[in-house]
Amino acid sequence: MTWHIGVIGGSGLHEGLALDEAQSIPVRSPFGEPSGPVTTGLIGGVRFSFLARHGAGHVLPPAAVNYRANIDVLKRTGVTDVVALSAIGSLREDLAPGGFVAVDQFIDRTAGRARSFFGEGMVAHVSLADPTCARLSALVADAAESAGAPVRRGGCYVAIDGPQFSTRAESALYRAWGGDVIGMTGMPEARLAREAELPYALLGMVTDYDCWREGEAVGAAEVFAVMKANAALAREAMAGLARVLPAQRTAAPADTALDGAFATAPGQRD
Ligand code: ADE
Repeated sequence: MTWHIGVIGGSGLHEGLALDEAQSIPVRSPFGEPSGPVTTGLIGGVRFSFLARHGAGHVLPPAAVNYRANIDVLKRTGVTDVVALSAIGSLREDLAPGGFVAVDQFIDRTAGRARSFFGEGMVAHVSLADPTCARLSALVADAAESAGAPVRRGGCYVAIDGPQFSTRAESALYRAWGGDVIGMTGMPEARLAREAELPYALLGMVTDYDCWREGEAVGAAEVFAVMKANAALAREAMAGLARVLPAQRTAAPADTALDGAFATAPGQRD
C-alpha cells in the first residue's frame, strides 16, 4: 500500500505546503462544510493533501472548525494517515518556544463540539487509550529533527475551547494534571481521526509558556510571531517526512479501529 499523508495546518500554516503538481479540489462532506478545499500534490513522489484548519485567511475560531467535515474530506480524498501541525503553549519549563512536541496523550476540556461520527442509529465505541499513532508520530518526530528542530517525543496535550487563553489558575491546574502542552484544536480532531480509522500524529510547535510562569502571560501576537518564524521549519519537516517514510505502507493499529467497536447490530445500522 502507498502512503497518502493528510496534513491539517493550524495557525500560521494556512499557506500550505510546497507541493509538486498541486491541485485544489473541493471535496463535499455530508457532515457540512470543511474549513476549505483540499490541496493535493506530491513531495518527493509521495502524495500529500493539505487542509488549512482555520480556513483561508484564518477566519474560523477553534470552536467553529467543522472537525468532522475536515476529517471526512481527508478520508474521502484517500488519505491514509493524518498529520496535524498546530501551535501549542508549553506547560513545562524544558519545552521552550521554538521546539516541537510529538504529542501522544490528550486531556480534553472542550465542550459542545461535535466529537463523533456516530449518533442515534449507529453506536460505536472506539478505543482512545493511545490516541495517536506511535509509528506516524515517530516518523514525524524524525522528520522534524532532520529539519533541525528540537523535538520532544511524547507529551500530554490539554485541549481547551478558547478562543481566550487560560487563567493562571487553570494553567496551574493543567500542569498539576500532568499536561505538558496546551492548545485549542487537537480535540476532537484526534477522536474523529480514530473513528475514521486514520492514524493521527500531532506535531505541535511551541509558541509560548501560557501563563503559569510568574509575571508572564501569552498573547496572540507572540503565538503568531513564533509560528511565522517556524512555518518554514514545519514545511521542511513535511518534506523530511516524505524522505523518511518506508517505501511501502504496512497496516497500522488505527486502520482497524472500528473492528469490534459497534454496539448496534449490523442489520440495524443506518
Ligand atoms: N496555542 C498556542 N499557545 C496556546 C496557549 N497558551 N493556550 C492555548 N492554545 C495555544
